[in-house]
Amino acid sequence: MNYDWMRLEDEATAPSPALLIYPDRVEENLRRMIALVGSPTRLRPHIKTHKLPQIVARQVALGVTRCKAATIAEAEMAARAGATDILVAAQLVGPNVGRLLALIRAFPSVAFSTLADDPGVVATLDREARAAAATIEVLIDLDVGMSRTGIAPGPAALDLYRTIATSAGLRAGGLHAYDGHLRQNTLPDRLAAAADGIAKTDAFRAELLRLGLPVPRVVAGGTPTFPVHARRPDVECSPGTCVLSDASYATQFPDLGFLHAAVLLTRVISRPGTNRLCLDLGHKSVASEMPHPRAIFPAIPDARAVVHSEEHLAIETARAADFPVGTAVYALPWHICPTVALHDRVQVVRNGRRVDEWQVTARVRKLSF
Ligand SMILES: Cc1ncc(COP(=O)(O)O)c(C=O)c1O
Repeated sequence: MNYDWMRLEDEATAPSPALLIYPDRVEENLRRMIALVGSPTRLRPHIKTHKLPQIVARQVALGVTRCKAATIAEAEMAARAGATDILVAAQLVGPNVGRLLALIRAFPSVAFSTLADDPGVVATLDREARAAAATIEVLIDLDVGMSRTGIAPGPAALDLYRTIATSAGLRAGGLHAYDGHLRQNTLPDRLAAAADGIAKTDAFRAELLRLGLPVPRVVAGGTPTFPVHARRPDVECSPGTCVLSDASYATQFPDLGFLHAAVLLTRVISRPGTNRLCLDLGHKSVASEMPHPRAIFPAIPDARAVVHSEEHLAIETARAADFPVGTAVYALPWHICPTVALHDRVQVVRNGRRVDEWQVTARVRKLSF
């Protein structure tokens, strides 16, 4: 793998561990995303991947004014960065309903929406919206096979949608169908695996329309099924990871063709044995919810993780002698989204030099609301 583009000319003064972001590569990924769907208005990227207002602003500049957020803080960050249509893709319960209403009040020119799959939540959203003299737009969260959240398309989902459409405090926003369980390595296999969920979603939408209920949008998929839903002209696509890409997706889905735009800078901090290097890349700087490898080292292709703790990652490699203590090493995180969330700042790299430092604004749970 060619990794010259990752390297910092000013490497010696760059602290480690650090997350480096390459905005020119982000820009290229955004352009590829738009090219895949044919229009920026068909994109609703999930901003939980990067949590950065600077990237939301670039999206908006390219005409991608819609986005998906996982938290109220991400939604607030996106609104401040210029997004004008923000789906909080979570069923809000407890005080989070009031937080959404506070956001709606604070940003009157932004269209916020949320998800629901539960009649009790729909009743609460309606009650609290009416009490606040507001209207909350609600998409129904369809379970199309992942079985993490959602309600299966069918009679109960239809009743729920009708309740949303006829509640005074709510507005029916359409359908949300996330299929993050589809991980087939080839696009033909993913197309085949997605067919059932797509057929059920389309039939459900057709039935709602037949009953005279409005279905303003269908929001579908993440990065692996992005090329699948991109072929459905009346669907908004909501990939997140492809904006930065990571080692996991590049390995599992070689057809996707997005650029790595986020890299970890780490250093050798000890060499405890002839074949062993210890790097300052512990759990606190690279996502560790997955088994190893949690990072890929292009310069050390035979690296094998052996010990991983909060601030340390020991690897074994036959090439350990080539990496004296202090050597800078570049790594591609296996899973970028939770890796970003571990860093309060990212280093911005253009043409091999650090040109800026961005605060990862939405890594916190609460901004103003
Ligand atoms: C509801 C939802 N939509 C979209 C995405 C984006 O998926 P990906 O990270 O594969 O691009 C995710 C990711 O977890 C998600 O949970």
